[in-house]
Amino acid sequence: MKKAVVTGIGGYVPKGILTNKDLETIVDTSDEWITTRTGIKERRIAAKNQVTTDLALEASKIAIKKAGIRPRQIDYIIFATATPDMLFPSAGCLLQHKLGAKNAAAFDIAAGCSGFIYALSIAEKYIECGSAEHILVVGAEILSRIVDWSDRTTCVLFGDGAGAVLLSAKNGDRGIISTVIRSDGSYGDLLKLPGGGSLFPPSYESIDNKLHYIKMSGNEVFKKAVKSMEDIAVELLETNGYEGKDVDLLVPHQANMRIIQAVQKRTNIPENRTYVNIHKYGNTSAASIPIALFEAEERGFLKERDLVLCIAFGAGFTWGGSLIRW
Ligand code: ACO
Repeated sequence: MKKAVVTGIGGYVPKGILTNKDLETIVDTSDEWITTRTGIKERRIAAKNQVTTDLALEASKIAIKKAGIRPRQIDYIIFATATPDMLFPSAGCLLQHKLGAKNAAAFDIAAGCSGFIYALSIAEKYIECGSAEHILVVGAEILSRIVDWSDRTTCVLFGDGAGAVLLSAKNGDRGIISTVIRSDGSYGDLLKLPGGGSLFPPSYESIDNKLHYIKMSGNEVFKKAVKSMEDIAVELLETNGYEGKDVDLLVPHQANMRIIQAVQKRTNIPENRTYVNIHKYGNTSAASIPIALFEAEERGFLKERDLVLCIAFGAGFTWGGSLIRW
């Protein structure tokens, strides 16, 4: 059986920077509160004329170039996002056109911050069952457009960006070892964007009630995120016969530094083997893991054959992890 090997990876963040100091002038918050509670110092904000697939396009071009293939060779584009350009056509189809990936089937995955892991899980199965040679998996978001800039409990947390990996079918022992995804819809109310769907279609009322923005019960999400990410990390390691000491790089979803530290402690993976960039980008949801993987590789923290553990948690609730022989 061929394995899904990462042959190219790309990332892109918009140029605009919004610092914690800038936020002090927008809502009643402080650099000190945001830094100590989350680890975030600044985040990127897309320009007015940029849409999510523009960010994805930049990241994808890098990934495809590194993989050394042509866009026409891509069989599937799986696009994880909570902030597509529009409800339909899917961001995947819009990106397919921008890339000229004429032979790719394209679709979106809605799994909040776990979207990239969900997309990876699907791509892994397509490759392992022999129905794809090359799959582009994208995580891209412009969360700044769905954040309520008067709500200090959420607006300080999120940022914009995109990451993409090109997975190719290869023989050998490199590639995705295992991906596990989970969900529990009974927690759906704790993290949601209620407006714009069939429940609350756009109306003057939905706008007045701010239903088109992220609503989150941060503290309750936090507790469940810590437990779920810890458990999935341990499960992935144990079921595949590894321990924390075997992991070369932990690449967790970058939502809160305290969640990342809890996972490090439970898995015995030290700080110097954990990739963290939350201070620069905040929570970029589905984009956070591929951006971190891209940066880690660019900066020499990630080398061929390294054992990489990625874990995520997000709206749904959804959570999951992937163990990869890089
Ligand atoms: N500045 C100053 N004070 C603030 C701010 C702020 N930006 N935000 C909240 N506070 C206040 C609160 O009002 C509260 O004040 P009170 O005690 O007087 O009521 C106090 O700070 C503590 O608030 P908590 O919500 O209890 O703070 P907590 O330590 O839980 O941190 C945070 C909040 C950062 C949101 C944390 O709960 C968190 O990271 N949650 C998880 C987020 C996450 O993982 N999301 C999943 C992915 S997102 C996705 O899928 C789209």
